Amino acid sequence: MSEQTPDPATEPDGGATTATAERDVLVDVRGVKVHFPIKRGIIFDRTVGHVYAVDGMDLQILRGETYGLVGESGCGKSTFGRALLQLEELTEGEVVFDGTDLASLKGEALRRRRHDMQMVFQDPLGSLDPRQTVEQLLLEGMKAHGLVKGQDAHERLVGLLQAVGLPKTALQKYPHEFSGGQRQRVGIARALSVDPKLIVADEPVSALDVSVQAQVVNLLEDLQEEFGLTYLVIAHDLAVVRHISDRVGVMYLGSLVEEADADDLYALPLHPYTRALMSAVPVPDPVVEDSREQILLAGDLPSPANPPSGCRFHTRCPWRQETRCDTERPELRTLQVEGATQSHRVACHWAEQIASGELQPHAVEIQVTDPTEGASDTGEEFFGPASVSEVG
Ligand SMILES: Nc1ncnc2c1ncn2[C@@H]1O[C@H](COP(=O)(O)OP(=O)(O)OP(=O)(O)O)[C@@H](O)[C@H]1O
Ligand code: SF4
Ligand SMILES: [Mg+2]
Repeated sequence: MSEQTPDPATEPDGGATTATAERDVLVDVRGVKVHFPIKRGIIFDRTVGHVYAVDGMDLQILRGETYGLVGESGCGKSTFGRALLQLEELTEGEVVFDGTDLASLKGEALRRRRHDMQMVFQDPLGSLDPRQTVEQLLLEGMKAHGLVKGQDAHERLVGLLQAVGLPKTALQKYPHEFSGGQRQRVGIARALSVDPKLIVADEPVSALDVSVQAQVVNLLEDLQEEFGLTYLVIAHDLAVVRHISDRVGVMYLGSLVEEADADDLYALPLHPYTRALMSAVPVPDPVVEDSREQILLAGDLPSPANPPSGCRFHTRCPWRQETRCDTERPELRTLQVEGATQSHRVACHWAEQIASGELQPHAVEIQVTDPTEGASDTGEEFFGPASVSEVG
């Protein structure tokens, strides 16, 4: 949706060195990790392991763009979104927002900065106080940030409702009186009420009927243009992400495995995991559907309490090699692959050989990872998460 990403093809050096320097970066995320301690003990809480929910995220969100973050359930998308807004304590790394390291802000300074960064949730009903009318919900944040006084408030409220396509009469209603789509509009209005620069939208349409999803996506796009917003849109639905995003990051077990401009990523997915995700999306044309590459992902997402060594994807990767894959964690890097731009980054040791066809996929033996292994050094029995779905 934005025009801000320079086209490396027109850059004098192919964009390699200027890509970061000349871009208008609103959010700069460097080496962010969020590890949740797993505590056990009746009298003393002892840490017997960690859930490595976010485990080394590096990305930049440009002013005015929509960055889409995709990945399987449990890979750490929501934790990352919350960490970005300082709603989750960082174990390591930094988030620089509009030039300020958020960790350097405390108390009032952090509170003031917070109104620049808002969140829209998947479940609007769960995130809106059922005892408050829409008017009270919207006024709350505006008052807390000293944004309104007297008659201005009413005008601003009506303007907000108009912006999200709700009538004035909505002001006196309670969240349960709305349909799912309307409630999401209230959630968006509440985020907008404090004039944010960044909105983190965590699965903003996945709880809605398909017919309503498109309306809410269109609304987000219109609002972006009208208010100059920057979005981080988190979703597991590749189609939604493609539609709305300028750039897309694919996350697997706590970190990015691939990042590119949306069209480039969908046209030329280079990481085995992204290829598998893409191959699972049905294509309406039956001829294309029958002839295209199908890559089945073996097994479930390993537990983030005991992530695989080396490349986190090696336990499920059809291209896994004897060397490097299970011992060396791959960096996110640009590739010398025909058709790949300089802004396309991939975390795979063998991406060039896979793209050229030199390496071919093979059958994957499903590995059952032991969730207790490596998680505890206390010698006591460990009752940590056996699988992602059992955690939280
Ligand atoms: N407060 C917490 N304490 C311990 N573990 C947590 C906590 N919050 C999240 N987790 C775990 O961290 C991992 C990542 O969770 P997260 O909710 O960020 O994933 P997600 O990608 O948003 O998944 P989904 O698509 O299902 O929303 C999961 O294993 C989750 O159970
Ligand atoms: S580094 Fe190895 S295991 Fe990881 S994605 Fe590449 S080929 Fe697969
Ligand atoms: Mg989530």
